[in-house]
Amino acid sequence: MTESVNFWAVVPAAGVGKRMQADRPKQYLPLAGKTVLEHTLNCLLQADVFSALAVAISKEDPYWPELDCSRHEHIITAAGGQERADSVLSALKSLSAQAADNDWVLVHDAARPCLTVADIRQLINTLQQDEVGGILALPSHDTLKNVAADSITQTIDRSVIWRALTPQMFRYGMLKQALQAAEGNPAITDEASALEMQGLQPKIVEGRPDNIKITRPEDLALAQFYMKQQAQQREQQND
Ligand code: CTP
Ligand code: MG
Repeated sequence: MTESVNFWAVVPAAGVGKRMQADRPKQYLPLAGKTVLEHTLNCLLQADVFSALAVAISKEDPYWPELDCSRHEHIITAAGGQERADSVLSALKSLSAQAADNDWVLVHDAARPCLTVADIRQLINTLQQDEVGGILALPSHDTLKNVAADSITQTIDRSVIWRALTPQMFRYGMLKQALQAAEGNPAITDEASALEMQGLQPKIVEGRPDNIKITRPEDLALAQFYMKQQAQQREQQND
């Protein structure tokens, strides 16, 4: 008999969005008729694989209770933390009564609303038999340079450079332990880096280039373009 393993989603949504320079955190900005965060959560719900979604929300956040999805039966609210890693750890802890160490957790940035169900399935199908887990990533297309004081010191071998995206998929117990061990370390900017610190080597799975993170003002228009394109693709597939 195969053991039954559950899947959980963790969504860090407690950032202030400083680089976006908007009047509210970027996860609450409007995009194609909904907020950024609603698009993100809808995609995770549509994947129909998660037992629940744990969303980390800042204590001073007046926008979250206004969204219908804050009361969704499969969505759990956790307190956000100082840094992204603290928010993720807090959301993981909110699942401790339900999640088993061997269960899989997919951590996905609230600020990546163009995620597709296809990419979620691709990540899960590729990694669910893996020992460690891994992340969606993209190969680098640009030529990359090492720079010191405005001058190039070296050209980096592009073939070994990948850009880390989310979701990042790891075992519940292993991820919680790795984040606890790394608490307060500013170098831990994603889940994979916490696992790497434990001497583990997470896998990469090539993701779609439209899974962008909304970071700066110009990214919102790009996200809108990708959403429109995805909707057109879905229509064509249904024709
Ligand atoms: N995040 C979080 N808790 C924090 C910081 C960030 O949950 N203390 C979340 C953000 O809400 C976002 C994701 O982590 O969904 C990725 O972080 P980032 O893009 O850096 O968002 P912000 O920190 O909000 O933006 P900025 O760095 O420009 O302030
Ligand atoms: Mg940030």
